Amino acid sequence: MSNYDSLYEALGEAEGIRDLVGRFYPKVQAHPLLAPLFPEDIIPVMEKQILFLTQFLGGPPLYSDEYGHPMMRARHLPFPITPERAEAWLDCMTRALAETSVPGPLQKLTIERLSGPANHFVNTVSDNSPSL
Ligand code: HEM
Repeated sequence: MSNYDSLYEALGEAEGIRDLVGRFYPKVQAHPLLAPLFPEDIIPVMEKQILFLTQFLGGPPLYSDEYGHPMMRARHLPFPITPERAEAWLDCMTRALAETSVPGPLQKLTIERLSGPANHFVNTVSDNSPSL
């Protein structure tokens, strides 16, 4: 990380973020726990995620410029996010990063940075409680 000013830069700036998001959403759409939450037309979600990750990882504030305060937890409240879904989201992102040429330690750092919000967005208890 020491050679970079931000993870945004380390991940390859605009092109790198777009590439990562392009690898991430097909995994989300193929995931049994995540797919049902997302619309069939994933393109608008991808475009928003590109703007958000850019600013979250230290690039220009593209998301806020367009949509105002991110309020990301609030924006996720309509969707039942269980701990398992947060793990699944992070797993899709881990696999997307693994397909890129980003060095391993920076992949790990990116996941660590995303773990905070992912766990923070959990708003629903697990639905795997033992049946009575
Ligand atoms: C914890 C697991 C997560 C789940 C299950 C999840 C699921 C979703 C869903 C269902 C949407 C709405 C799609 C639609 O527009 O219909 C969404 C939007 C979004 N998510 Fe997540 N998400 C998760 C974590 C994250 C994380 C960690 C980030 C970024 C740090 C993130 C960033 C976004 C952004 C930027 C949007 C678009 C918000 C907007 O409408 O402006 N999500 N997410």
